[in-house]
Formats: sequence, structure tokens, C-alpha cells
Amino acid sequence: MKFNIAVIPGDGIGPEVIAETIRVLDYATKGTDVELNYTSYLAGGCAIDEVGKPLPEETVVGTKASDAVLLGAVGGEKWDTLGSDMRPENALLGLRGALGLFANLRPAVLFPQLSEACPLKPELVKDGLDILVLRELTGGIYFGEKDRDETSGYDTLKYSDYEIKRIAHVAFKAAMKRDKKVTSVDKANVLESSRVWRKYVEEVALDYPEVTLNHMYVDNAAMQLVRYPEQFDVIVTGNMFGDILSDEAAMITGSIGMLPSASLGDTTLGMYEPVHGSAPDIAGQELANPLATIMSAAMMLKYSLGQDDLANKIEKAVDKALTDGARTKDIALPGELTLTTTQMTDAVIANMEK
Ligand code: IPM
Ligand code: MG
Repeated sequence: MKFNIAVIPGDGIGPEVIAETIRVLDYATKGTDVELNYTSYLAGGCAIDEVGKPLPEETVVGTKASDAVLLGAVGGEKWDTLGSDMRPENALLGLRGALGLFANLRPAVLFPQLSEACPLKPELVKDGLDILVLRELTGGIYFGEKDRDETSGYDTLKYSDYEIKRIAHVAFKAAMKRDKKVTSVDKANVLESSRVWRKYVEEVALDYPEVTLNHMYVDNAAMQLVRYPEQFDVIVTGNMFGDILSDEAAMITGSIGMLPSASLGDTTLGMYEPVHGSAPDIAGQELANPLATIMSAAMMLKYSLGQDDLANKIEKAVDKALTDGARTKDIALPGELTLTTTQMTDAVIANMEK
């Protein structure tokens, strides 16, 4: 089976973690009937530098025509002073919108091998941590009407029935394969859009009688994540609350360098990227942790390409490498021997079953 993968290396450490991930994918697929064809596209700061805009039309057309999109990271200080149309982040938002990727899956998993990297007290995570943050990605305040003048500015937070129902279905379906618990996070004590959110999440819940649903205000959810994280299974929430809570959930697992993400829509086309950013300060120094991107590629194999066996093979290899003590600097304890980006990838490949 042949698949066309649109690759967007992007900025900062993006190109290096993508190159390492492609090495893993090539090794995993070698000798199988799966053939991955990669085409690179520009997006983000590098696109501004090369063609004068963050999201070239060619990238939109190419990604739309692909089977899946694998993205490194975009952005960096260098482009931070440009006007709002020229921000590298627009590439991400534009791709999410253009490809209709309304569901963003951000699993926050604490690997037992890294439990000491967790900043919470050990007794709070004694049973490990496995939370799926599901963020609505193409609506809400990110995409609402907005404007500014000299002295004021506004953004609009609006959610409609169909947007809420489709993300709620993703949440309940995911929960059915996990611990059958959905926490819907909103600010329904203040916001009208949240009251509508609640109404339709409850309506969808009726289709999934086995799943327990509870509602939580976002401020409380932020607190509960550090007070008693084991209470969560699937967290479903809107675009901005999800942006914030997914960073918090990422941190309590110890390293944002470990976390993958998938952005999905109505079809199998998805975009896969590490949760971490472009980290320009460590770019090109062999310091980046490639595991978040490698595990994003595993999600790609699973969700877009239907290759669960290959995905499991990669996830197992990552797990074994960690058990062997493979650590990049971000996940190492003080004094522990650390691997470079390339060496970490080698450790994953060495642990992969053929
Ligand atoms: C994320 C990022 C983006 C977002 C930025 C870079 C636009 O923070 O993917 O979480 O806010 O969605
Ligand atoms: Mg974010």
C-alpha cells in the first residue's frame, strides 16, 4: 500500500525532529507492503523567508491532496515582530481551518520510566497518568470575528450545535475505548457559548449510555489537574481552554518533549505534530527530543493510514528505549548520561522488532 505523506519540517528544531522521525518510519516500513512517499512543503517562518507568506497556497493544495500531514514545528522570535497576517502561527491555524481538522487529540501520558520527571508529588500519580485532552480546533475564539483599532480590540467566542456535537462524538467514542469517562470543560457560569456547549454535549451523551459525563468549569479544571489528575480520562473542551489545559496536562507528565498530537476531521486525512514548539534556542545542537514527533508519526499510522501494527511497533520501541535508560537532556535526571537527538532515534530503531 502506498501513502502520500505531506511533510512540513517548519522552523527551529522542526526539521531535525522530522528528519529523525522519517528515519524511524523508513526502518519500520522496510520489508513491509507499506510504502510512504514524502513531499516537503513550506509553512511558518521559513515560508515567510522564502516566499513572503507563512502559508503558501502550494502547501494548502499539497496537504489537502495527501493521505496525512506530518509537521515539525513553526515559529520563532525572528518573526515575532511581523504584523498579524504574517505571523508563522497563521500557518498552523490556516492549515487546521483549510483541512477541516476540528478535533485535536493530545494524549498526556506519564511513562512509568519517567515518573521522577513529573513535577507533582509521587502519591498523586502512583497509578500513572493517562489523560486524553480533546480540543476543538477550528472554532471558538480563535476563529470568531475579530478586529482592532488604535485603542481597543475584540475577539468573538461563538460555538454552534454542529461544531459541539461533532467534537463531543469524538470524545465519547474515544472514551468508549478507554475508561469510559468524559469531563467536559467550559465556563458555563459566565459564558453563553459555554451554556450552549453544555446543552449539546449532554445531548450527544445520550448516545453513549456507558460513558459517564461530568462538567467542570475551566478554572476548577486547571486546579483539579494538579490536585488530583487521576480523576481524568477524556477531557473535551473548546479551542482556547484546550490550548491552555493541554499545556498544563503536558507539563504534569514531566516533559513536553514526549507528547504527540493528532488533528482530525471528517475524513482520514489528519495532521500530526509534536505538542512542543520550535525551540529555536536549541535548534541544530542535537539537543531536541525526537520522541514526540516519532510518536506523532505512530498516531499517523494508526489514525490516517490504518496501520495499527506498525504504530504499535514504533510505540513499543520507544517504550523499550526508555526502559533501557535512553534519555535526551530534557527528560534526564541531573547527572544522568544523555543522548543526542540522533542517538535517541538510534535507540528507538535498535529496539524495534522486525
Ligand atoms: C498549540 C499552539 C498554537 C495554538 C499556536 C502556536 C497558534 O499553542 O498548537 O497549542 O494556540 O493553537
Ligand atoms: Mg498551545
